[in-house]
Amino acid sequence: MSLMQQLTRKKFPSDLVTQNLTKCLTAWDLGLMGVGAIIGTGIFVLTGIAAATQAGPAVIVSFILSGIACGFAALSYAELSASVGGSGSAYGYSYAAFGEFIAWIIGWDLILEYAVSVEAVANGWAGYVKDALTAMGVGLPHEFTKGPLVLVHADGMTAAQKLLPANACSFTFLHDCYHATGDIMNLPAVLVILALMGLLVAGVKESVRFNAAMVFIKLLTIAVFICVALFHVDFANWKNFMPFGWYGVSADGETHGVLAGASMVFFAYVGFDAVSTAVGEAKNPRRDVPIGILGSLLFCTVIYIVVSGLLTLVVPYTALNVSSPVAHALQLAGVNWASALVATGVIIGLTTVMLVLYYGLTRILMSMAGDGLLPRFFSAVNGKTHTPVKNTVLCGIVMAAMAGVIPLDVLADLVNIGTLAAFVLVCAGVIVLRKTRPDMPRPFRMPFGPFLPLMGILSCGALIFFLPLITQLRFVVWLAVGLLIYFLYSGKNSSLAAEPR
Ligand code: ALA
Repeated sequence: MSLMQQLTRKKFPSDLVTQNLTKCLTAWDLGLMGVGAIIGTGIFVLTGIAAATQAGPAVIVSFILSGIACGFAALSYAELSASVGGSGSAYGYSYAAFGEFIAWIIGWDLILEYAVSVEAVANGWAGYVKDALTAMGVGLPHEFTKGPLVLVHADGMTAAQKLLPANACSFTFLHDCYHATGDIMNLPAVLVILALMGLLVAGVKESVRFNAAMVFIKLLTIAVFICVALFHVDFANWKNFMPFGWYGVSADGETHGVLAGASMVFFAYVGFDAVSTAVGEAKNPRRDVPIGILGSLLFCTVIYIVVSGLLTLVVPYTALNVSSPVAHALQLAGVNWASALVATGVIIGLTTVMLVLYYGLTRILMSMAGDGLLPRFFSAVNGKTHTPVKNTVLCGIVMAAMAGVIPLDVLADLVNIGTLAAFVLVCAGVIVLRKTRPDMPRPFRMPFGPFLPLMGILSCGALIFFLPLITQLRFVVWLAVGLLIYFLYSGKNSSLAAEPR
């Protein structure tokens, strides 16, 4: 087999890998999983930062633009999850449409998206829990609330950091300067990941029940914010609606404007794709997975538009560059009880994001291992719990260690670019498969021929373009590592390598 034949050999997902999983998820469960994964840091934290530093009150436009791009991608996911199937999500669709090499790249990319999201969100979660405990008079030992290193962004130093002598770097990597803080580890971040690991090992139905209860509380919190905020709206806050224009790059390489804001708040939408990893456990995947994907995205987009609009109407956008802008806005409006309630909602909201993305990670690893691109260890399903126990435990330990020790600022930026790249390929996959497999049954079909997937490719591609250059470079480094693993291991061990063509 020539190298070209190897790289383009194609495969449709088989249910051999997922046959031992329990088929227990309904459309409702899948929709709640989507909402669980979507609403989190993006709306509770990034909205304020994006409004204050990127888009001003026009952050609502950033949310709409990003939501439209995700809408095109979600329709593509819906078509492919119903027709191609498989728990590998974008990885599995790429295997069927483009062949093994692109599939590997996208699978590698999804591992980054899901694992880093969980670690980054665990860090944010730990910060909120620490504040809540402190407010209740329970202080955690300081050295167990932060990792041993902090990153000093070359392009985002605080004034205090800029005063540090250059040799204050404990070490540098890819132009970033890291300082040793003397702290030991972020223990709450480690513990929450290990707790979710226990839940996912116990069973998927248990995890889904926990998720549903948490999603309900998260939505209640948002409803309270909306009701309270409605009474404190001041349209004077929208006078300077678009202070940063559409797009610009400052001298130090920082991007700003509504379009850069759209790339930033895109993180708020990350997660609806995780629903497509639940095909192996859905009762009626061809019908329910598309409903779960599209329903949860639509619901969350409406919430995001309402919340971001109200937030910038309640307080001037300049006051929102804080770690908890939603709670902060309510505090400024003098509604302190609501502020405490929102903080609780954030803690719960972030827990479900981690849970669903962690779940998605394990199912993608399972699919890749089932195809031989990763060791079989990852696809083994435990006979008692019907979950991939080994895979879940290994992921939990690695992610807990990383979340506890490594500063994740840089990696968190990579989540957006990795996810956007997957979305571009899923949209392209719809077009390719309609050409190469026109007769394939398509229980859900995107309307308007190739127009909508094409718009998805263009809009998600544009959001990649508006991300900072350094993020794009880091993504290339991650892909280079993936290529190395493919040529050293995966290409040789692929299940297609053993089959006659
Ligand atoms: N969309 C998820 C969040 O905002 C990742 O936290």
